[in-house]
Amino acid sequence: MLRFPFFSVILLLLGLSLAAQESLLPPGTVWTDQNGLHVNAHGGNVIHVGDTYYWYGESRSRVGGPMPGVSLYTSKDMLHWHDCGIVLSTVADTACPIQRGCVIERPKVVRCPHTDNYVMLFHLELKGKGYAAAMMGFADSPSPEGPFTFRRALRPTAGKWPMDFKRKDRKLARGHRPEDYKDWWTPSWEKAVREGMYVARDLKGGQMSRDQTIFVDDDGKAYQISSSEENLTLHINELTSDYMGFTGRYVRVAPGEMNEAPTLLKHNGTYWLITSGCTGWAPNEARMYSAKSIWGPWTRHPSPCRGPKAKTTFDGQGNYIFRQGQRFIFMADRWQPKKLSESPHIWLPITFDAEGVPVIEWKD
Ligand code: DGJ
Repeated sequence: MLRFPFFSVILLLLGLSLAAQESLLPPGTVWTDQNGLHVNAHGGNVIHVGDTYYWYGESRSRVGGPMPGVSLYTSKDMLHWHDCGIVLSTVADTACPIQRGCVIERPKVVRCPHTDNYVMLFHLELKGKGYAAAMMGFADSPSPEGPFTFRRALRPTAGKWPMDFKRKDRKLARGHRPEDYKDWWTPSWEKAVREGMYVARDLKGGQMSRDQTIFVDDDGKAYQISSSEENLTLHINELTSDYMGFTGRYVRVAPGEMNEAPTLLKHNGTYWLITSGCTGWAPNEARMYSAKSIWGPWTRHPSPCRGPKAKTTFDGQGNYIFRQGQRFIFMADRWQPKKLSESPHIWLPITFDAEGVPVIEWKD
């Protein structure tokens, strides 16, 4: 008779500790879905529609070999994630830019308020070409659940100069030829980069576009921010009102500073760009820029990260800033290049200091 209450208490304590575990997703650990598998959605983003969170990301092969495409996980509480499968699949058709063997990175999905369509933009590298293609792709779906239909892949803003390039700037840019600069990182090469040598080189075929994100402003206008010009310079590209193309209006940010992993938030009228340096899959120190207008001028700030491991962005690389009301979550990947599917996720709150500058601190 006396044993029963004793074991009940033990069971109760066990139950409480399990419940406590389930109420946490510690950053940098394995985050399991309904099947007990790590959430295989990397470099992506989260949107909130109705009572559901939709998390899209790179689905990396768990067994090696070509990537399946873009995955979707859903949740009602941001804690219990349900694997909904692949919503944009790589295909067998060898004439299609997203044929199996291609690389799809940093997919982002947003709802277009003008069309009520869900639009996906992603970085695309063609099969067998390494990272040379530097393209981006468009896909869409009438529902956040997908599936998404692939529409096209291209390099942005073909034939267009940056908005702030006057006649004399165009002439200067055209005056440099990459073949005359065999060595990178010399003062004359740096000057040529700043003056738009690679913009001029890629003018006809479109600008390179690798790491990328989408930002939707308060007025419903959307922008793609991408690593362009050999990853040396960021471009902010305005999207058309249906978010399925480019208007051709764009500016360059931080020419020659080598930024990847762009993420963007707006707080109290100021735009904050949080990026990384370019060190492949290895982590590096985050960078930050601010501007009062999306078109700049952009000012550089120290990294927003504070505390231990701030110098390596907590061993991660940002992929998106999820916003709900006045709360912002910095989403990052702790890349495991030998097994990308298992790369842990790091989600941390972004707070603002007394001057309104974003701060990211580690939270267990
Ligand atoms: C860093 C980028 O941010 C990733 O998305 C990926 O492209 C790797 N480089 C590849 O080395």
